Amino acid sequence: MPNNSNFPYDLRIDAQRQKTDFDSLAAIGVDGKGGVHRPALGEAHLAARAWFREQVRAAGLELRVDSAGNHSAFLECSDHFSPVLLLGSHLDSVPHGGRFDGALGVLSALEVLRTIKEAGIHLPVNLEAIDFTDEEGTLYGFLGSAALTGRLSHRDLQSPRGGRHNLLAGLKRAGLSEAGLLNAGRDPSSLAGYLELHIEQGPQLERAGVRIGIVTGIVGISSYRLAFIGRADHAGSTPMLDRLDASLGASAFTLAVRRIVLEEFPDCVANVGQMQIEPGVFNIVPQKATLGLEFRSADQGTFDRLETILLASAHTEAQRYRLKLEVEFLAKHLPTPMSPLAQQAIHQAAESLGLSTLPLPSGAGHDAQYLALWCPAGMIFVPSVNGASHSAREFTRWEDCVNGANMLLQAALHLALGRK
Ligand code: GLV
Ligand code: MN
Ligand code: MN
Repeated sequence: MPNNSNFPYDLRIDAQRQKTDFDSLAAIGVDGKGGVHRPALGEAHLAARAWFREQVRAAGLELRVDSAGNHSAFLECSDHFSPVLLLGSHLDSVPHGGRFDGALGVLSALEVLRTIKEAGIHLPVNLEAIDFTDEEGTLYGFLGSAALTGRLSHRDLQSPRGGRHNLLAGLKRAGLSEAGLLNAGRDPSSLAGYLELHIEQGPQLERAGVRIGIVTGIVGISSYRLAFIGRADHAGSTPMLDRLDASLGASAFTLAVRRIVLEEFPDCVANVGQMQIEPGVFNIVPQKATLGLEFRSADQGTFDRLETILLASAHTEAQRYRLKLEVEFLAKHLPTPMSPLAQQAIHQAAESLGLSTLPLPSGAGHDAQYLALWCPAGMIFVPSVNGASHSAREFTRWEDCVNGANMLLQAALHLALGRK
């Protein structure tokens, strides 16, 4: 072990090794437009996980896979019974997403474990670099972290927002089961903390000219499927005022969502990200229009009020066009503050690396909001160029990626050694 009074705080990750990893991973599920297409438990995502397992073995770390399919590298830095400091993120992507979202956090967590293993540091905790299953919600959303923290119920799995058929098909492809998901809960006392490095996915750090974001809290996210139901009729011979056109209710509601949020909920966002019209034929009046609605707020009271008002508006618009409305609740992930202890460790890490910081809330959801229910959880953000994310335009300068990984290393050391 080096004889240096500042050890281990002068440790740095191997930036070249991290770059090699980043490029190899970004080639898995590459979509030809500069992004990646790795929806959870699809072939490309499973290939990315196989690649991760290979890196874990090659690094001489212990590979662990739990019954929710969460993949981990484990490094014993303490005695066998010490709690685990988890570091991680996710390898799945939204359909046609970017190369950095999730991937940067998993790769950096792995690199931190390799760096600490090579330095032979003894810590009061053991370390685990984790890749959570289905963070992005193509199937359910935060599936692996909800399972790990015992927050999944049988009922949650009946109407996942990606559809039950797709969930079951994905589980089958990955060799997982519903029973496994429901039994993946760990013992809360086994966790010492959770840290996640992520790209910001918004413009604040870039606009402020700051290198590191210290996340103060994560928004709550709620999703619903809404079906406006009318009547199919001949599109040529049915007079306009006689029609029960489902698309009118869905369109009017979509516009109302924007107006309500802009006028009454300036700190919130809402999105109608899916629309399906049936039977979907040029010369048939739409009989059914189904919408995928998601809305977000950082404040629990506001989150509840927004939900009430949006659902009331869906009923109003359905009535206006003489339609029926079917409302299906899909999932709710609660607004969650990040731990002051973890934020302090991130702040100390930035000081030791001489990097500027900005405290900021996260408008994107993250597995950290589930881990925070059990242990001190914190997130480090690095700047997103033009704030772009969930798109092939997503980009973070390599220097910022390296800063982020060193931040994760230093914050992990501060959080771990601060426990002594
Ligand atoms: C996850 O990326 C989300 O915020 O939807
Ligand atoms: Mn992410
Ligand atoms: Mn994402």
